[in-house]
Amino acid sequence: MPASPLIYVLNGPNLNLLGMREPEIYGTDTLDDIATRVEDRARALGARVEIRQSNHEGHLVDWLHEARLQGAKAVILNAGAFTHTSVALHDAVKAIGVPVIEVHLSNPQAREEFRHHSFIASVAKGSITGLGALGYELALDAAVRL
Ligand code: DQA
Repeated sequence: MPASPLIYVLNGPNLNLLGMREPEIYGTDTLDDIATRVEDRARALGARVEIRQSNHEGHLVDWLHEARLQGAKAVILNAGAFTHTSVALHDAVKAIGVPVIEVHLSNPQAREEFRHHSFIASVAKGSITGLGALGYELALDAAVRL
Protein backbone atom coordinates (compact mmCIF):
# COMPACT_ATOMS: atom_id res chain seq x y z
CA MET A 1 0.00 0.00 0.00
CA PRO A 2 1.47 3.42 -0.93
CA ALA A 3 2.41 5.69 2.01
CA SER A 4 -0.15 8.38 2.77
CA PRO A 5 0.89 11.73 1.27
CA LEU A 6 2.50 14.22 3.62
CA ILE A 7 1.41 17.87 3.31
CA TYR A 8 3.08 20.72 5.16
CA VAL A 9 0.79 23.61 6.18
CA LEU A 10 2.93 26.64 7.01
CA ASN A 11 1.63 29.88 8.49
CA GLY A 12 3.48 33.15 8.82
CA PRO A 13 3.45 36.19 11.08
CA ASN A 14 0.47 37.25 13.17
CA LEU A 15 -1.58 34.23 12.17
CA ASN A 16 -1.17 32.98 15.75
CA LEU A 17 -3.55 35.84 16.64
CA LEU A 18 -6.40 34.62 14.44
CA GLY A 19 -9.71 34.74 16.27
CA MET A 20 -9.02 38.10 17.87
CA ARG A 21 -7.10 39.76 15.02
CA GLU A 22 -9.33 41.98 12.86
CA PRO A 23 -12.19 39.42 12.84
CA GLU A 24 -14.09 41.49 10.25
CA ILE A 25 -11.27 40.65 7.82
CA TYR A 26 -9.94 37.29 8.99
CA GLY A 27 -12.99 35.74 10.67
CA THR A 28 -13.37 34.38 14.18
CA ASP A 29 -11.74 30.97 13.77
CA THR A 30 -8.47 30.60 15.66
CA LEU A 31 -5.47 28.93 14.05
CA ASP A 32 -6.19 25.92 16.29
CA ASP A 33 -9.74 25.78 14.89
CA ILE A 34 -8.34 25.84 11.36
CA ALA A 35 -5.77 23.17 12.26
CA THR A 36 -8.54 20.92 13.60
CA ARG A 37 -10.52 21.31 10.37
CA VAL A 38 -7.44 20.61 8.27
CA GLU A 39 -6.59 17.54 10.36
CA ASP A 40 -10.16 16.22 10.02
CA ARG A 41 -10.08 16.74 6.27
CA ALA A 42 -6.64 15.11 6.05
CA ARG A 43 -7.94 12.05 7.88
CA ALA A 44 -10.85 11.81 5.44
CA LEU A 45 -8.43 12.10 2.50
CA GLY A 46 -5.92 9.64 3.93
CA ALA A 47 -3.19 12.30 4.13
CA ARG A 48 -0.79 13.33 6.87
CA VAL A 49 -0.39 17.01 7.72
CA GLU A 50 2.36 18.91 9.48
CA ILE A 51 0.92 22.24 10.60
CA ARG A 52 3.21 25.03 11.82
CA GLN A 53 3.18 28.78 12.49
CA SER A 54 6.01 31.22 13.03
CA ASN A 55 6.45 34.96 13.21
CA HIS A 56 10.02 34.55 11.91
CA GLU A 57 10.87 34.48 8.21
CA GLY A 58 13.85 32.14 8.64
CA HIS A 59 11.70 29.49 10.33
CA LEU A 60 9.45 29.44 7.28
CA VAL A 61 12.48 29.11 4.98
CA ASP A 62 13.82 26.23 7.12
CA TRP A 63 10.43 24.48 7.11
CA LEU A 64 10.15 24.76 3.32
CA HIS A 65 13.55 23.04 3.09
CA GLU A 66 12.40 20.45 5.63
CA ALA A 67 9.28 19.72 3.55
CA ARG A 68 11.55 18.70 0.67
CA LEU A 69 13.79 16.56 2.88
CA GLN A 70 10.74 14.83 4.40
CA GLY A 71 9.39 14.02 0.94
CA ALA A 72 6.28 16.18 1.29
CA LYS A 73 3.89 15.96 -1.63
CA ALA A 74 2.97 19.63 -1.34
CA VAL A 75 3.12 22.65 0.93
CA ILE A 76 0.20 24.91 1.77
CA LEU A 77 1.66 28.30 2.59
CA ASN A 78 0.02 31.35 4.10
CA ALA A 79 3.08 33.55 4.48
CA GLY A 80 1.06 36.43 5.97
CA ALA A 81 2.76 39.78 5.42
CA PHE A 82 5.98 38.07 4.24
CA THR A 83 3.98 37.32 1.08
CA HIS A 84 4.46 40.94 0.10
CA THR A 85 8.09 41.39 1.16
CA SER A 86 10.08 38.19 1.10
CA VAL A 87 12.52 37.38 -1.69
CA ALA A 88 13.89 34.68 0.65
CA LEU A 89 10.54 32.85 0.66
CA HIS A 90 10.22 33.29 -3.11
CA ASP A 91 13.67 31.71 -3.54
CA ALA A 92 12.91 28.89 -1.09
CA VAL A 93 9.65 27.99 -2.83
CA LYS A 94 11.50 27.97 -6.14
CA ALA A 95 14.39 25.93 -4.73
CA ILE A 96 12.60 23.02 -3.08
CA GLY A 97 10.90 21.48 -6.10
CA VAL A 98 7.79 20.72 -4.01
CA PRO A 99 4.52 22.24 -5.25
CA VAL A 100 3.37 25.09 -3.03
CA ILE A 101 -0.23 26.24 -2.80
CA GLU A 102 -0.52 29.82 -1.60
CA VAL A 103 -3.46 30.50 0.72
CA HIS A 104 -4.82 33.75 2.12
CA LEU A 105 -7.88 34.08 4.31
CA SER A 106 -8.64 37.52 2.90
CA ASN A 107 -8.40 38.62 -0.73
CA PRO A 108 -5.25 40.75 -0.82
CA GLN A 109 -6.20 42.07 -4.29
CA ALA A 110 -9.27 43.72 -2.76
CA ARG A 111 -7.25 45.38 -0.02
CA GLU A 112 -4.50 47.99 0.28
CA GLU A 113 -2.17 48.50 -2.69
CA PHE A 114 0.84 47.17 -0.75
CA ARG A 115 -0.86 43.76 -0.54
CA HIS A 116 -1.37 43.48 -4.29
CA HIS A 117 2.07 42.05 -5.03
CA SER A 118 2.88 38.52 -3.88
CA PHE A 119 6.43 37.19 -3.97
CA ILE A 120 4.90 33.72 -3.63
CA ALA A 121 2.30 33.75 -6.43
CA SER A 122 4.74 33.59 -9.34
CA VAL A 123 6.46 30.48 -7.95
CA ALA A 124 3.39 28.79 -6.46
CA LYS A 125 1.48 25.99 -8.16
CA GLY A 126 -1.69 27.96 -7.45
CA SER A 127 -3.34 30.36 -5.06
CA ILE A 128 -6.58 30.32 -3.07
CA THR A 129 -7.58 33.66 -1.60
CA GLY A 130 -10.55 35.34 -0.01
CA LEU A 131 -12.43 32.22 1.11
CA GLY A 132 -11.48 32.37 4.78
CA ALA A 133 -10.59 29.18 6.62
CA LEU A 134 -12.29 27.14 3.88
CA GLY A 135 -9.31 28.02 1.67
CA TYR A 136 -7.07 25.72 3.72
CA GLU A 137 -9.41 22.75 3.26
CA LEU A 138 -9.72 23.42 -0.48
CA ALA A 139 -5.95 23.70 -0.74
CA LEU A 140 -5.60 20.34 1.02
CA ASP A 141 -8.06 18.73 -1.39
CA ALA A 142 -6.00 20.11 -4.27
CA ALA A 143 -2.66 19.15 -2.67
CA VAL A 144 -3.51 15.45 -2.37
CA ARG A 145 -4.75 15.37 -5.99
CA LEU A 146 -1.72 17.06 -7.56
C1 DQA B 1 -3.04 37.26 4.89
C2 DQA B 1 -3.03 38.49 3.99
C3 DQA B 1 -1.77 39.30 4.21
O1 DQA B 1 -1.81 40.48 3.42
C4 DQA B 1 -1.65 39.72 5.66
O2 DQA B 1 -0.43 40.41 5.88
C5 DQA B 1 -1.80 38.60 6.60
C6 DQA B 1 -2.85 37.61 6.34
C7 DQA B 1 -4.37 36.48 4.76
O3 DQA B 1 -4.39 35.33 5.13
O4 DQA B 1 -5.37 37.06 4.34
O5 DQA B 1 -1.14 38.52 7.63
O6 DQA B 1 -2.00 36.39 4.46
